[in-house]
Amino acid sequence: MRLNPAARIRGRFTLPGDKSLSHRLAILGAIAEGETRLSNFASAADCASTLTCLQALGVSIEQSGASVSIQGRGFEELTAPRAELDAGNSGSTLRMLAGVLAGRPFRSTLTGDESLRSRPVERVAAPLRAMGARLTSTDGRPPLSIEGTHLTPLTWELPVASAQVKTAILLAGLQAEGQTTVREPAASRDHTERLLPLFGAPVERSGLTTSIRGGVRLHSVQLAVPGDVSSAAFLVVAAITRPGSEIRLDGVLLNPGRTAFLDVLRLMGAEIEVEPSGGGEAEPVGTIVARSSRLHGVDVAPEIVPALIDEIPALAAAAAFAEGRFTVSGAGELRVKESDRLAALAEGLRAMGVQLEERTDGLVIDGGRPLSGAAVRSQGDHRIAMALAIAALGATGATEIADAECASVSFPEFYELLAQACR
Ligand code: S3P
Repeated sequence: MRLNPAARIRGRFTLPGDKSLSHRLAILGAIAEGETRLSNFASAADCASTLTCLQALGVSIEQSGASVSIQGRGFEELTAPRAELDAGNSGSTLRMLAGVLAGRPFRSTLTGDESLRSRPVERVAAPLRAMGARLTSTDGRPPLSIEGTHLTPLTWELPVASAQVKTAILLAGLQAEGQTTVREPAASRDHTERLLPLFGAPVERSGLTTSIRGGVRLHSVQLAVPGDVSSAAFLVVAAITRPGSEIRLDGVLLNPGRTAFLDVLRLMGAEIEVEPSGGGEAEPVGTIVARSSRLHGVDVAPEIVPALIDEIPALAAAAAFAEGRFTVSGAGELRVKESDRLAALAEGLRAMGVQLEERTDGLVIDGGRPLSGAAVRSQGDHRIAMALAIAALGATGATEIADAECASVSFPEFYELLAQACR
């Protein structure tokens, strides 16, 4: 895909539903009893993978555009899949479903595309094994075979903060008799904890510890999914880095475990307003307004990295336009995302003339110098494609992004929306 520099970014948009929330709502809807009706469900290809896997487990799902209706019949009615469950590019689908399948009395195998098959799954397999299920990975990676069983409750300390693994343990815990507890070293996103009570399953939370009781029957819900805040990040960065820009995004998810990138951008000098609109049942929702700003580099501390892990590609693009030094450390997890994101960002931004040092667990970016259009690669990673596209808007000359289309993994409307905003 060829991207030309853009003079300014303007417009008012409502974004498709949040990917993290959509995965969870689909899974919880499938194991609840009754019809769960969701509007503004994510258009992300990743969430379509979750729906397809649930259908392969015997769940009846109807979709019409962004409206999804799920006929939940409880855990017990899930049936053995006839073939391997294909999670596509989606780590969330694979890891969260592992938690469901660990408690089901049948054999199943979860797999995915080449990228997903290179990512670690022992972090989710280990606690589920400790609960009694038999899981076999392939050298620590998918395919992951699961022989589910009657689970025993567990208390588990996560070595690395992971919302996907935490969710898998809680979903398995729902099927165990007694209390299951997860402790995290740092706070990861808490959507599962917020949504479970909405479906009728109480969750106990204290600091970084979360507990759930097994055996509770879940009931269906009706919900409008707030706009994807991780998708919003790319548009916000586009607006603050181009002169004369203003963008307004309505109905965006404002969970504090996801909005830390806004705090960092503000510290960098970005003019961003957030207006909570309330109305969100389990999650805060509101409008984000972002305007062109003079940015400067900052240090992103390791403690807040889990709350902005998916936004580091967008932040790196912002840092390329910010005066002075931007550093992020404690972000080694980026090496096991859809691509090695530290290496992919370093390669792409350097090709565009950005001065950058790649560290084992982070990046040092000396920004504020002119960027030049170049031939770059997404490396099959949606967030790398979008970060490089945003950088391209502020470069001199055109940028060619190889495999830019993979943005559809989380944000199929991205290029179209960007084109509208640049007009
Ligand atoms: C996600 C959690 C994060 C994030 C991923 C989505 C989720 O991964 O990077 O894109 O929806 O739970 P971790 O499991 O490493 O926290």
